[in-house]
Amino acid sequence: MFEFGDTFKEQANFALFWVLAIDGLFLALIAFCLIFFTYRYHKSRNLKPKNIEGHVGLEVLWTVVPTIIVMWFFYIGWEGYKTDRAVPDGAMVVEVTAYKWGWNFKYPNGKSSDNIYLPVNKPVKFILHTKDVVHSFYLPEFRTKRDAMPGYENFVWIKPEKTGEFNLYCTEYCGLNHWNMNRKVFVVSDNEFNAWLNTAPEHLDGPAVYAKHCAVCHSNDGSAKVGPSFKGVFGKNETVLINDVESNVEVNKDYIYESIRKPGAAVVKGFGNAMPSFEGTLSDKEIENVADYIESLK
Ligand code: CUA
Repeated sequence: MFEFGDTFKEQANFALFWVLAIDGLFLALIAFCLIFFTYRYHKSRNLKPKNIEGHVGLEVLWTVVPTIIVMWFFYIGWEGYKTDRAVPDGAMVVEVTAYKWGWNFKYPNGKSSDNIYLPVNKPVKFILHTKDVVHSFYLPEFRTKRDAMPGYENFVWIKPEKTGEFNLYCTEYCGLNHWNMNRKVFVVSDNEFNAWLNTAPEHLDGPAVYAKHCAVCHSNDGSAKVGPSFKGVFGKNETVLINDVESNVEVNKDYIYESIRKPGAAVVKGFGNAMPSFEGTLSDKEIENVADYIESLK
């Protein structure tokens, strides 16, 4: 109850406790006065009104007490702010890249993932980037959120104190598939974490890459979503815009590879260019796999 704590989460909980406690106190006080005055000054008691000139003691009391309360809240907030900005020495750094619509997390040894894995009881600093619009990195379990903003390097740090599975949300409305930015935070023991960190990521096969990264914007049944459907697209002649100039391309492997790595290079007419580059998010092998998968969708 009086433990201030040394992580932002503990301090946020501490602040919440005090705000609720003082709110509760005032709720009780106001409800008591309401009921008591209604009873005491009911007209059936025929009380005579009298003039009250003022009461210095009372006025001092209701000036001083609220001032102390709000200064106390300010102090808690200030301490929380200082904690939030002071990343502990030796914190593990995870580079976060948000995009429409997903996340990429890059660890110090170069491994990347699209959910977060963390060792328990170790501080971790997230450096936040975005490939396009503003996204917001929200970790309710850790009582914190921070915006990922274009052209600005933001950060937030946490220290998970128990193992388990927690949620990550994007909490800035970032367009049509904002809903698709929910991910997991897996907090595991040191050993489990090191084992995970030092295992090369397995390459997903075509359908798995599709399900995980493409399906949110490209259907495989012929219906148009944010982007063109993958069904029947392979081998087709498409009208595309290259630097705003119309031309024709055959959808072959080279066009697909280019569209994954440089989505803006040749955009199919009638669609906007909402897609981020998947260079670095997908391995070369995965790009080949998904291209094979697109080819198979006759
Ligand atoms: Cu990203 Cu909402």
